[in-house]
Amino acid sequence: MIFTVAIDGPAAAGKGTIGRAVAERFGFAHLDTGLLYRAVGARALAGDDPAAAAADLTADDLARPDLRTAAVAEAASRAAALPAVRAALLDFQRRFARREGGAVLDGRDIGTVICPDAQVKLYVTASAEIRAARRHAELAATGIALAQVLDDVRARDARDAGRSDAPMRPADDALLLDTTDLSIDEAVARALAAVGQAM
Ligand code: C5P
Repeated sequence: MIFTVAIDGPAAAGKGTIGRAVAERFGFAHLDTGLLYRAVGARALAGDDPAAAAADLTADDLARPDLRTAAVAEAASRAAALPAVRAALLDFQRRFARREGGAVLDGRDIGTVICPDAQVKLYVTASAEIRAARRHAELAATGIALAQVLDDVRARDARDAGRSDAPMRPADDALLLDTTDLSIDEAVARALAAVGQAM
């Protein structure tokens, strides 16, 4: 069975949690596509050409412990604006989406560019303030200030939505899920219901 669930939206809106829950419930494989861009960003910070890094990403690149840092997120978002980087990562994502047994991909352009034919498309958002607060809690150990996290979130949103190649935006046929005032359990329940209905 080929069945693809595309989940897009800005940083820290809940895409990852929802994607993992959908994958677990329906037995689908799950790909956090942000991790691909983060691995490219980490390589770029180390001095590599981003397009060359995207073309030869290794399992080691994807297993680096520093991929969740604010510096790598920023570098990922810069690299993600380069068409050559996006082109190099396209095939891998499309093949993953067509895995036998079903797949969930979360990112920024899954429903619009990577899998325009996905059976289910979700666009998960929340206010910048609530997303920054959630991300701040995750990064607490690093000692970063909330105001800094909010600035970073806003800068990344603007860059991701403003780039000309595959900008972050909801697909016309995406179900919008605003998690600003939803508990994570409610958001997951709505996503599971949407997928269940489409199966
Ligand atoms: O989702 P995450 O915050 O890990 O993504 C890091 C960065 O990778 C995003 O800010 C965005 O610039 C880029 N990205 C993208 N397209 C995707 C997934 C992530 O451009 N499908």
